[in-house]
Amino acid sequence: MSENHSVLFCVRKTNESTENALRLRWLCRRDFGALLALERAAFEFPWTRDEFEYCLRTRNFGGLVVERNGEPLGYLCFEARKRSFRLLSCAVAESERRQGLGTLLARALIDRLDERRSKIVCVVRERNLAAQLFLRRLGFRAVWVARDYYFKTNEDAYRMTYRADVAVPTEIDRTRRRLLSR
Ligand SMILES: CC(C)(COP(=O)(O)OP(=O)(O)OC[C@H]1O[C@@H](n2cnc3c(N)ncnc32)[C@H](O)[C@@H]1OP(=O)(O)O)[C@@H](O)C(=O)NCCC(=O)NCCS
Repeated sequence: MSENHSVLFCVRKTNESTENALRLRWLCRRDFGALLALERAAFEFPWTRDEFEYCLRTRNFGGLVVERNGEPLGYLCFEARKRSFRLLSCAVAESERRQGLGTLLARALIDRLDERRSKIVCVVRERNLAAQLFLRRLGFRAVWVARDYYFKTNEDAYRMTYRADVAVPTEIDRTRRRLLSR
């Protein structure tokens, strides 16, 4: 999970040339400039270079970047714990949102779940409704509230968890439940 520029995979939308393909790869030091700008635009309390540096240098920490034509458009940083992953931070450039890039990054982490590491844990600010809806759509569920977790804003934190061993209800399950609860 250390600095490595290898491409994890390449996504091409139909009719799009290789030039405009999205590439998912490991975070590297060369990304810092672009990610710091993205970070400042996305968060009230953005990560600094030190936090990205920590993710690169620390064992069991890692980062993924999605790019197009060499331009980083989003990233996700995580910690691999003994039995779970911790999603530390994730952001997509404002102009590129709602096009599935966040999902592409998160899915790459979800795809790494196995019998040993079977869940992903994430802490989200109560005011960050977009992130909560994004995570929920992926199958994360809020499991716990920490009161006044963010002391600078007196905000609560929602701990959201994705569990590989708990099936997310499908449309058929939802329809069945609707019918049964009438
Ligand atoms: C949260 C974030 C990473 C989502 O990235 P994204 O690339 O826009 O996400 P996707 O396009 O993959 O969205 C997938 C689904 O999540 C939900 N979703 C995402 N953003 C949403 C929003 N602002 N409002 C409501 N639902 C949203 C939708 O269901 C969406 O599917 P749809 O577009 O078909 O309706 C992005 O909004 C962001 O960078 N926010 C600022 C940083 C941040 O809050 N990070 C915390 C992440 S845990």
